[in-house]
Amino acid sequence: MATTILGTGSYLPENIVSNDDLAKYMDTSDEWISSRTGIRFRHISNKETAAEIAYYAAASALKHSGILAENIDLIIAATITPDCLTPSMSCILQEKLGAVNAVCFDINAACSGFIFAMNTAHMYLQAGMARYALVLGVEVLSSILDWTDRSTCVLFGDGAGAAVLGPGEYGIQDFIMGSDGSHGKALLCSGRPLRNLYSNEEAANPYVHMDGQAVFRFAVRQVPECIEQLLKRSSISIHEIKYFVLHQANIRIIQSVAKRLQVNIEKFPMNISECANTSSASIPILLAELDKEGKLQRGDKIILSGFGGGLTWGAVLIEW
Ligand code: ACO
Repeated sequence: MATTILGTGSYLPENIVSNDDLAKYMDTSDEWISSRTGIRFRHISNKETAAEIAYYAAASALKHSGILAENIDLIIAATITPDCLTPSMSCILQEKLGAVNAVCFDINAACSGFIFAMNTAHMYLQAGMARYALVLGVEVLSSILDWTDRSTCVLFGDGAGAAVLGPGEYGIQDFIMGSDGSHGKALLCSGRPLRNLYSNEEAANPYVHMDGQAVFRFAVRQVPECIEQLLKRSSISIHEIKYFVLHQANIRIIQSVAKRLQVNIEKFPMNISECANTSSASIPILLAELDKEGKLQRGDKIILSGFGGGLTWGAVLIEW
């Protein structure tokens, strides 16, 4: 049996913020942001917690799949912005959903998080350790942004996307995951300082710091390489792929990947203009949109690919 996506769902906070709205608070412009990134709007939470956002996305995916919460054996949430360090986002979600029989844990792989979560759940299913899994990417990135740093805060948004996995005829064919901790500082958000009886460390910058150009170079090299490896290993021609659902970091990264792969940009669906970069949530939000719009037919081959902090990257080949 393959691991099939039985249902998808997403949720974006109600508060929509345009580039012009941001220009009221900082020295930026719609022209600067949209021409360099493709971003025009983002959803920024003004009340919803990460757990609430995750709940709405997860409940929608469960409803769409027809699987009851109590039949979910595994919940894996990918996030770098959980409400608490413990309990995990997945445990909080378990309680909200009433998924009483699930094993729950979170994954931190930044913008690759959903791919890592999905691949991990797939291995649980294939090993017979779970029958139905709920995987999601959820972020309230607005809580870890320095709103006085215009070079980062304009790039990100909040939201969540989810998928229910279970046994079926079609589904995940193969995947690749990779990491390079030696370049982790290119995209950094520090944790708490070491303060105890023996140490009184200064607090580090608690906000996201990014070397934008280094991340750009990493993404445009690593993503095509990873997709080509996946295709080669699966003996599938690139022409057989209907859609490449990439992490929505920057329109220029996606255009550059399409060019390197020599694939028409039409095969790269995007919602970055409306959602900005929602890190681990961007792929499942876009996937849920495609699903809802009826753009995915049974048997279609698609590739999902994420890349980001860690550094991390990954891709998964799915027969829908
Ligand atoms: N509005 C106006 N001006 C700005 C803004 C802003 N929001 N931000 C920076 N600037 C200014 C800078 O101060 C600088 O001015 P200066 O020349 O007077 O010093 C100028 O614009 C150019 O700044 P750069 O940082 O060199 O801008 P660059 O052209 O590299 O674009 C960007 C920045 C869009 C982040 C680019 O590096 C990029 O696309 N990086 C890819 C990384 C990415 O998208 N990461 C997203 C998160 S990571 C992930 O999801 C994997």
